[in-house]
Amino acid sequence: MKLFLDSANLQDVENALARGHISGITTNPSLLAKEPKANFLGHIKKIVKLIEADGRGLPLSVEVFATKPDEMIAQAQEFVQELAYPGLNIKVPIGWDELKVIYALARLGIKVNCTCIFTEEQCVLAASSGASYVSIFHCRLKDIGGDPVRVIENTRQIFDDAGHSAEIIVGSIRMQTDILEAHLAGGHIVTAGAKILEQMAAHPATDKSVQGFLNDFAGWMS
Ligand code: E4P
Repeated sequence: MKLFLDSANLQDVENALARGHISGITTNPSLLAKEPKANFLGHIKKIVKLIEADGRGLPLSVEVFATKPDEMIAQAQEFVQELAYPGLNIKVPIGWDELKVIYALARLGIKVNCTCIFTEEQCVLAASSGASYVSIFHCRLKDIGGDPVRVIENTRQIFDDAGHSAEIIVGSIRMQTDILEAHLAGGHIVTAGAKILEQMAAHPATDKSVQGFLNDFAGWMS
């Protein structure tokens, strides 16, 4: 069960890296837009610095915001050159024209995380064009009456049967139960916000047990 942090917040990144529980970081333009206005690549460079200081070379996904295929390719190349981080993955939304982008980037040796995915067919196309990761949007699919568990299960089976090496990232996570659901369905990775990852460590019975131990021990010590 691999966990990624879904955030562009520097404090979230620092807090997560300090605990060692994450195996990568994903960002998207909406997450960036929550941060104080800054130079885009300047902000991403700060995230890269934190990851480099951690020393594990964790993967970082950064999404292109150009919309025409040629411009997306050029922007992806600019990110690669400017950030100079070997663990960088370029996020490209799924789409007919975007498949050209994925294929071109893959042929340039640039790892692609194909994002905004809602169906098995989109996963297969993205992986076939060379994406290293396919990002399925779990709760956004539930919102429109879809069944993300089925999509993850089917995609995992198709990938395993076809020998696709692409990994399934499950994003759009809103509750702890979504994380377990996504992993059990066969997602290789689940990416979630800092709050949800933090909540995973907590349980009322844990607090009660710890307090009980401390109380018993305090009585014995006095
Ligand atoms: C995944 O890569 C996306 O960044 C993300 O999980 C989107 O989720 P949202 O529905 O919380 O915006």
